[in-house]
Amino acid sequence: MKERVVILSGAGTSAESGLSTFRDADGLWEGHDVMEVASIEGWHQNPALVLAFYNERRRQLHDVEPNKAHYLIAKLEQDYKVTVVTQNVDDLHERAGSNHVIHLHGELFKAKSSLEPSDSFIHKSDINIGDLCENGNQIRPDIVWFGEQVPMLEVAAYEVSQADKIIIIGTSMQVYPAASLVDYAKPEADVYYIDLKPANTEQLILSNPLIVITNTASQGMQQLLDEHL
Ligand code: APR
Repeated sequence: MKERVVILSGAGTSAESGLSTFRDADGLWEGHDVMEVASIEGWHQNPALVLAFYNERRRQLHDVEPNKAHYLIAKLEQDYKVTVVTQNVDDLHERAGSNHVIHLHGELFKAKSSLEPSDSFIHKSDINIGDLCENGNQIRPDIVWFGEQVPMLEVAAYEVSQADKIIIIGTSMQVYPAASLVDYAKPEADVYYIDLKPANTEQLILSNPLIVITNTASQGMQQLLDEHL
């Protein structure tokens, strides 16, 4: 029976692919205040700005590729039962070959009705004011904005609770509830944290053995494979 590995990935995992992180540029995301373009209030205040912002992000996603970290994570499936729980809305884990990816904060290449809590659908082009779903309501990006529920949280927490190894990679661990997922780890699970500037792990109420690797996602994954897995 293969051991279970859960990857908890954040924006730092996609940084080497050329996608901006959220908090490395003093809290601005591509020059915007995150709360202006990634919150439900921002959507109500200025939907056109929010749609334009995600149109830029979506167009950029067509032009970038997975990096070595994504490929090394996908390759883990040869030896482990792997679940990727990502805060990222890009599809780079999937494009690198990961087969079980849970997107806590939604997916850039999906859209949904802005009114009914309907299923999302694949949508890889721009979304503009006036683009309507079949019931005649404005469609929006299928992204979990600040101020909204995280529908996949329970599923993700269950996966963490079953994991033999947990690899936290490229996240500042500042956004909840995603940052609290590691608390669901079994006491005997091995926990690894790969980050260029790791967050202070004292905050983690972890009894688990924790190995911190201060490196880029790609080099850190290689180091983890060479030295620990
Ligand atoms: N390799 C590894 N780690 C990196 C790299 C890199 N090349 N570049 C940056 N990092 C690290 C930073 O040190 C930081 O710890 O990636 C982390 C990025 O943190 P954030 O920008 O806060 O991104 P993330 O933790 O994913 O944010 C969580 O916040 O704005 C919301 O919904 C949004 O999903 C996002 C959530």
